[in-house]
Amino acid sequence: MKTLVTYLTQTGNTQKIAEAIYGELEGEKDIKPINDVADLEGYDLAFIGFPVMQFDIPPKVKSFISEKTAGKNIAIFMTHAVPEGFEAIHSWTGSCKDAAAGANFLGSFDCQGELAQPVIDMLLQAEDPQMKAFGEMGPSTKGQPDQSRVQKAKEFAKEIQAKL
Ligand SMILES: Cc1cc2nc3c(=O)[nH]c(=O)nc-3n(C[C@H](O)[C@H](O)[C@H](O)COP(=O)(O)O)c2cc1C
Repeated sequence: MKTLVTYLTQTGNTQKIAEAIYGELEGEKDIKPINDVADLEGYDLAFIGFPVMQFDIPPKVKSFISEKTAGKNIAIFMTHAVPEGFEAIHSWTGSCKDAAAGANFLGSFDCQGELAQPVIDMLLQAEDPQMKAFGEMGPSTKGQPDQSRVQKAKEFAKEIQAKL
C-alpha cells in the first residue's frame, strides 16, 4: 500500500495537519505540496488537504480533485477559520465530493486554523460588514490547530487507512 499526503498551505496550518496524518500512516508513503504532484499514478490512497478560502475550495485544489482522482481512493482534509460545526463546512465537503465524482471518497476531516494577522487586519478594514465580522472572529482562532485537533487528524488517518 502506497499513500500520498498532498496539500496546499499559505500559513502552515494545513501543512501541520498534513504532517500529523503522514506521521500516522503505515506502509510506503510520500508527503508533497500539491504543486509538486502531477498525478496519483502509483498511489493506492491519497489524502488531499487545503485551507478554505473565500468560502470555497481553492480553485487549484478543486481542479486537482476533479481531474486527477478518477478511480482512486481519496480522503480530504481542510482547515478553516470558522469554528468546527459551522454550517458552510457541509457545503465545502459536498463540493469536494462532487468534484471527486469518479473517485472512491473515503472520508473527510476539517478543523479550525488560525487566521493570519495580516488577513485579520485586512478584513477589519473591509467595508462589507460580513468581512468585518469575519475579521473580528480572527483572535478566537489563535493557536489553531492545537494539539487536540492534531490528535483528531491522526485518528482520522488511521480510520481512513483501515477502510482499505
Ligand atoms: C485569503 C484568505 C481567505 C480565507 N477565507 C476563508 C473563508 O472563507 N472561510 C474560512 O473559514 N476561513 C478562511 N480563511 C482562513 C483559512 O482557511 C485558515 O486560516 C486556514 O487554516 C489557513 O490555512 P493555511 O495556514 O494552511 O494556509 C481564509 C484565509 C485567507 C488567507
